[in-house]
Amino acid sequence: MGNLLNEFSVSRAREAEFESGGLRSFLEYRDLGIKKATGGRWRASISHSLQAMPGGTGLHRHALDVQVVFVLQGQATFEYGQYGEVEVGPGDCIHQPSGIVHQQTDRTADCMVLEVVSPGDFPTEETGLEDYVEPDPSSGVVSRYSVSRAADTPFTSHPLRPWLERRDLGIAAATGGRVNAHVSRCREPMPGPTGLHRHDLDFQMVFVVAGTCAFDYGPHGVVELEAGDCVNQAPGIPHDLLRRSEDCQILEITSPAEFGTEDVA
Ligand SMILES: [Fe+2]
Ligand SMILES: [Fe+2]
Repeated sequence: MGNLLNEFSVSRAREAEFESGGLRSFLEYRDLGIKKATGGRWRASISHSLQAMPGGTGLHRHALDVQVVFVLQGQATFEYGQYGEVEVGPGDCIHQPSGIVHQQTDRTADCMVLEVVSPGDFPTEETGLEDYVEPDPSSGVVSRYSVSRAADTPFTSHPLRPWLERRDLGIAAATGGRVNAHVSRCREPMPGPTGLHRHDLDFQMVFVVAGTCAFDYGPHGVVELEAGDCVNQAPGIPHDLLRRSEDCQILEITSPAEFGTEDVA
């Protein structure tokens, strides 16, 4: 935290521009403004296909801290070292640990994949098939491959808001608590605004998967959000969730996984 750049930002689906020129020529990418807002410590983007995949991307690995892959729509198939091919669909989430040898082997034309990485830029190396070896426990670093499937992971009660429930995406376990990712939805109609509060953390990204909601961000005003919109909730920013539609689903990614919350008078 300290003086590290971490600014409030909003990226709106309605104004979104998908651009080519990323890592893969058959994909277009929408940047969600997180890299700029966090001074490059994090990056979030959505990719979608420009054309049918020309075969696999080729086996490669990245050197980074965290890589979360969340499928928004369509189907994608990845291959991971000893874990083999994994086909994922809407709501499925993968943690790709640093150094795991992988490739994308297929994706449907309508596929949209949200990817969140830290840091924002990292080296990529083409390589042959190798098994993934988790960091030695003596290093204190936890970095595991994990797949959380929407069909297999139930929504459970939300620790902070009884009218909400959430689905854990396995990221806290895979990263030893460095990062958490979950999808929340209403268990019952929202009883009223949450009240102004703030969280003590290093990073918090909110992405609206479905429905609509509105936050009061104090000096930044009231922000109405709809599916596809993304907010960088800068650390410590006071905010009040004013309303969310009953069908609203929000994907939230935080670092660390556990953090304090205090009400703001
Ligand atoms: Fe990759
Ligand atoms: Fe909050």
